[in-house]
Amino acid sequence: MKEISLHILDIVQNSIEAGATRVAIAVTADSQRDLLTVAIADNGRGMPPDMVAKVTDPFVTTRTTRRVGLGLPLLAATARQSGGTLTVASAEGEGTKVSATFGLGNIDRPPLGDMATTLACLLAANPSLELEYRHRAGGREFRFGASEFLGKLDGVSFSSPVVYRVVKEHVDAGIREAQSKGGIAL
Ligand SMILES: Nc1ncnc2c1ncn2[C@@H]1O[C@H](COP(=O)(O)OP(=O)(O)OP(=O)(O)O)[C@@H](O)[C@H]1O
Ligand SMILES: [Mg+2]
Repeated sequence: MKEISLHILDIVQNSIEAGATRVAIAVTADSQRDLLTVAIADNGRGMPPDMVAKVTDPFVTTRTTRRVGLGLPLLAATARQSGGTLTVASAEGEGTKVSATFGLGNIDRPPLGDMATTLACLLAANPSLELEYRHRAGGREFRFGASEFLGKLDGVSFSSPVVYRVVKEHVDAGIREAQSKGGIAL
């Protein structure tokens, strides 16, 4: 995929399919360690240990007879190609955390892409999802909490087209400000 935000959209889809009601996304750029970290944590049904081992290894998964998807192996390939890794931690009945690292300055790292549209789309399609986004770069942080945000817009839903625009513009502006003050464009 050409943008990390599209991987994030795909990985959050897994969380929703696993019945998650809460999803926390964290994007952290650390220029000293030349590292970009993307973490997606959910409270979905989780996976047993043998499944976790399979989803992180595309070579094992392709040989099994059960249907295995491409979302996690593709993210793993994108992470590895820029000098990073993918780790999946999961506990049945508790949730799952997917963490990907990328070489921040690596030429093969895709750009973060359009996180504002990703978050607005996720909320439009899943209006009651408790979605949290944290964006940290160069000592600056932008935080977006869906429940908190909706509380300020009394009576409307994330499924409303007006709210879609408001979310998109709010996240866009927040990320832009964090990036310009932090001096790191992702
Ligand atoms: N957050 C999660 N919670 C519980 N199970 C998960 C989670 N993420 C992935 N899985 C399990 O791992 C499998 C593989 O995920 P992956 O995203 O690689 O493929 P997929 O979702 O099955 O298909 P695709 O992403 O190609 O549509 C899923 O089918 C699901 O069983
Ligand atoms: Mg998937």
